[in-house]
Amino acid sequence: MVQERKKIIDAVNKITYGLYVLSSVSNDGKINGQICNTIFQITSIPLRVAVGINKQNYTFELIKESGVFAINVLKQSQIDFVPIFGLKSGRTMNKFENLKYHPGFTKSPILDDILSWMECKIVSGMTADCGTHTLFIADVVDGFTVSNEEPLTYKYYRDSRTK
Ligand SMILES: Cc1cc2nc3c(=O)[nH]c(=O)nc-3n(C[C@H](O)[C@H](O)[C@H](O)COP(=O)(O)O)c2cc1C
Repeated sequence: MVQERKKIIDAVNKITYGLYVLSSVSNDGKINGQICNTIFQITSIPLRVAVGINKQNYTFELIKESGVFAINVLKQSQIDFVPIFGLKSGRTMNKFENLKYHPGFTKSPILDDILSWMECKIVSGMTADCGTHTLFIADVVDGFTVSNEEPLTYKYYRDSRTK
């Protein structure tokens, strides 16, 4: 007999993740970003990551169009970025309005104050339709570590909400 669904979900929720601002750009230069936890390195040679993006997100539209994105690794002290980038849509606001950022090699926006960043190009043919989400596999084409502070994790965010 299998466990009841809530217990299974509780077990799944023990998987650990970081929280990131995943940003992208349209071909005519519109920028946006969203919180993403489904990001992991999948191969070392070549250096590749996999990201899971909900098809309803504005960021998804930009990624589909340009095939590029940047991963901004948040610091623990940047937990306030979560409601801005993760609970609102860039369709109705400019999430970068009050933040310092610069365009990267792929033209995706990179936050100046961040733990580290990397820029990625989707590998042709390497996407998987997962229902609500699409899994994109992408080559990491550039990256840099800006600070050595503690990274923001999903657990830290969850724990902060129950305090
Ligand atoms: C803690 C947290 C984790 C999230 N993880 C993901 C994720 O892995 N993939 C995803 O597509 N959306 C994720 N989201 C939801 C998007 O960040 C959210 O829908 C966002 O408002 C989309 O913005 P956009 O429409 O401007 O692209 C997450 C949100 C939160 C708060």
